[in-house]
Amino acid sequence: MRATFEATPNIAVVKYWGKRDEKLILPTEGSLSFTMDETLKTRTTVVYSKKFKADSFWLNGQKIDLSDKETAERLQLLDVIRRKAGIQDKAHIASLNCFPTAAGFASSAAGLAALSCAASMAAGLKLNPRETSMLARLGSGSACRSVLGGFVEWKKGVKADGSDSFAEQVAPATHWPEIRNVIAVVDATKKKVSSRAGMKQTVATSQLYKARLAYLPGLIHDMKKAVLAKDFETFGELTMRESSNMHAVMLDTWPPILYLNDHSKDVMHAVNEFNANGIQAAYTFDAGPNAHVYTTKNQAGAVQKMLEEIPGVTETLVCGVGNGPKRLETGHLLDESGNVIPHAFNQSKGIVFT
Ligand code: PMV
Repeated sequence: MRATFEATPNIAVVKYWGKRDEKLILPTEGSLSFTMDETLKTRTTVVYSKKFKADSFWLNGQKIDLSDKETAERLQLLDVIRRKAGIQDKAHIASLNCFPTAAGFASSAAGLAALSCAASMAAGLKLNPRETSMLARLGSGSACRSVLGGFVEWKKGVKADGSDSFAEQVAPATHWPEIRNVIAVVDATKKKVSSRAGMKQTVATSQLYKARLAYLPGLIHDMKKAVLAKDFETFGELTMRESSNMHAVMLDTWPPILYLNDHSKDVMHAVNEFNANGIQAAYTFDAGPNAHVYTTKNQAGAVQKMLEEIPGVTETLVCGVGNGPKRLETGHLLDESGNVIPHAFNQSKGIVFT
């Protein structure tokens, strides 16, 4: 009844921004992303026991208050797992973000993908990637894409019960191994408007949102075609235009939502200058001001240098594309009785047990 998994974030090039069902986390449209390699990863251990009186959760060694509404909603997948497995046991969960930077992009996607894999395995369930993806979706929409490696599509689905809304791999990491994401940190603080609250407000108030919904199906088709053909020029242009489209509907939301700051705009200008003779780098921004600049291996050094020269960029990090979650047989964060084995992430040593 114990399992440990590691999972990595994913960075979308066609973004998910809006739900058609708030409880089941069903999106208004599909989305596409690359799953990152282990430069950024989250390790999670889950133990179930009849002896536990309640679910308990430690994040980065700190006990988390599970009475908080958003945390409780994210952990609804535990009840789904218990129902499927026919158990009532409570769970102990320990999760550690292994991010070699203080950046504010600590994505929940990696955490919830690792949790879905570990919690279902510890409960004795043998789920396929589609089923695991649907579980992760209940914790955080974008997490359903981190259950798979490579280039991944989240299919919006049309059914009311969400049984056709899951992620599928479009191409494995080996298809385009040269792809890099150079992350430029411009603000490492926590965002003021959560993506959950922000997208709800956009769907309710943005006039431009209808136009976005009309544009996305064709874009998804064209983006998949560009990635399958390894056509960086087309991929890059579509990626940058899509990022701006999402941030346009955010600005059109009432009250307006502004995640980009002046440094983000400096990154956009610098990338456009870098691309003067053809697109070799493409920025995309999630619900925050930090830039993810997609490029290829032979340009990654030049892109990193260009980003580091921008005043306001405090840190850069280069990620490749990864293979998705993996199970670990050693290095558990909880012992078999569910007690925390004291642990921490150290920049130079990695995970250390103290
Ligand atoms: O899954 P959430 O609630 O973290 O929403 C993620 C939204 C974006 O990161 C902005 C876009 C995406 O598709 O990842």
